[in-house]
Amino acid sequence: MAQQSHQFFELLKNDHRRAEQLMQQISAASREQRQEPFITLRNELQAHFQIEEKFFYPKLLPIQDMKALVEDALDEHQEAKDLLLQLEKIGFGAEDWQETFSKLEDGIRHHHEDEEQEIFPKCTQFLKDQDLTDMARKSVQEKEHFLTRAAKSSSARPGARRKPTRKEIHP
Ligand SMILES: [Fe+2]
Ligand SMILES: [Fe+2]
Repeated sequence: MAQQSHQFFELLKNDHRRAEQLMQQISAASREQRQEPFITLRNELQAHFQIEEKFFYPKLLPIQDMKALVEDALDEHQEAKDLLLQLEKIGFGAEDWQETFSKLEDGIRHHHEDEEQEIFPKCTQFLKDQDLTDMARKSVQEKEHFLTRAAKSSSARPGARRKPTRKEIHP
């Protein structure tokens, strides 16, 4: 049986605290200042979801006792992804931006509680220390790759997004 204090859970919890700090910072920022920390939050959340969806949840889904919790968690990821897209689409100066952002913030905080209070402690019954050690190693690499790619892509630079030209779509 794996330990609840394993490095893999510490990595995920560190990501959770960082996202919570960023969300607090964004809520306190003015309309003009919110875009940059928001893009950082978006990239960090996407990297974190990817790690959990690639290495962690597929191991738990086949376990009957974990299935419902994992399905809920995956739904919460999808809700957060939808809200992140919506927040970019409505524009950072929009009247209802903060209201929509608060929905994301509440959802993410609730999701972190579910993971840390239910999923992490429960899943240790079914995983081996070696599984968690492998997941920790892969997660560090994956996050680094993901954030490097995000930083290189033009969408990671505030204000640098543009529509692709017709030639790029139909070369
Ligand atoms: Fe998480
Ligand atoms: Fe999650």
